[in-house]
Amino acid sequence: MDLILTNARIVSMEQGDLGYQPSSPKTVVIKAGKIDACLDSHIPIAAAPEHKVIDCQGKLITPGLIDCHTHLIYAGNRANEFEMHLQGVPYPAIAKQGGGILSTVHATRTASIDQLVELALPRLEGLLRSGVTSVEIKSGYGLTLHDEIKMLKAAKHLEDHRRIKVVTTLLAAHAIPPEYQHRSDDYVEHICQEIIPLVAEQKLASSVDVFCESIGFTLAQTEKVFQAAIAHGLQVKGHTEQLSNLGGSALTAHYQGLSADHIEYLDEQGVFALARSNTVATLLPGAFYFLRETQRPPIDLLRQHHIPMAIASDFNPGTSPFADLTLMMNMACTLFGLTPQEALRGVTQHAAQALGFADSRGKIATGYDADLAIWNISHPADLSYQVGVPRLHARVVDGAFTYE
Ligand code: NIG
Ligand code: FE
Repeated sequence: MDLILTNARIVSMEQGDLGYQPSSPKTVVIKAGKIDACLDSHIPIAAAPEHKVIDCQGKLITPGLIDCHTHLIYAGNRANEFEMHLQGVPYPAIAKQGGGILSTVHATRTASIDQLVELALPRLEGLLRSGVTSVEIKSGYGLTLHDEIKMLKAAKHLEDHRRIKVVTTLLAAHAIPPEYQHRSDDYVEHICQEIIPLVAEQKLASSVDVFCESIGFTLAQTEKVFQAAIAHGLQVKGHTEQLSNLGGSALTAHYQGLSADHIEYLDEQGVFALARSNTVATLLPGAFYFLRETQRPPIDLLRQHHIPMAIASDFNPGTSPFADLTLMMNMACTLFGLTPQEALRGVTQHAAQALGFADSRGKIATGYDADLAIWNISHPADLSYQVGVPRLHARVVDGAFTYE
């Protein structure tokens, strides 16, 4: 059944300030999961007998929010590392002591797909309550062919449990697994020769990510993984310039990557490289906040060069245990100096671009997917302003209406 929403004040997120201004009450016509029309007039219910009609009573409607970078699937708990970090042990030192990513790898390897799904559902719940209709989920806590595939399948299974669109990313190059200690090149070879080909063949992920960092993979290793991904028809993206500047963002841009994520240490050369590509700059203020970092991403330079900025939760057990995308909008404003309009673009239009869906998600426009969030708020800035106050009235995913 198709859907008609009446009395809807639309924040379309079309280009420019106008796309951020709530419209006068309109009627949104949804057909076959797509936005068919946004009309000024009110369609009489009798004229649409085959439609489900919902009166939005003047509520504000935005595109459904898109969380374009998460690590939602994992087992185990790292609250102990949080305590260590508060006592002054830096994140790289915790990782070197066998904690960090590898401690989550141990726990994740022993979990079944069903257990991973069960553990992820409450995390997903938090994101849904903040209006999310699409979520990207990475592997990266398995680090074997079997366990990476297990994670990607668990991520996709979330769609069977909740109304959500999941986009999966292979992050086998997240850490050097214990079996390959001091043989990182051999592990990269394994990723390129075995893991990527199988993941591509079975269509378990649409892109490949690499943690390009001194505690992750070198620039040369990152390039090898990117080349293998592209050879198998997958898109690329990077965890780049999070803790130091290795040039990973420029490399990602060179390979027309979807996004360069974190980018606290991005320099002017890196910004120029992004400006020459369509690569989105994804800001992850949750990890910046949690790690109590002080080096902020070069927001003014990114603005000057008109580089689209996305914002994501980076939900993960080690550096960003925050399952609320509107909290990330707030942090992007308070910690990085974004405007609330930039923050909303960062979780709609630009997040869609960071997932390769610039033409079908992240805006309320004819032909776009009918993924919407319906809010009990009066102005879109409220989404960045308040935290913890329930404001979501309902979500629409591919035209299917769900009350929250
Ligand atoms: O995005 N930077 C690397 N990966 C994650 C952290 C993962 C972890 O510590 O478990 C991140 O911050
Ligand atoms: Fe991450």
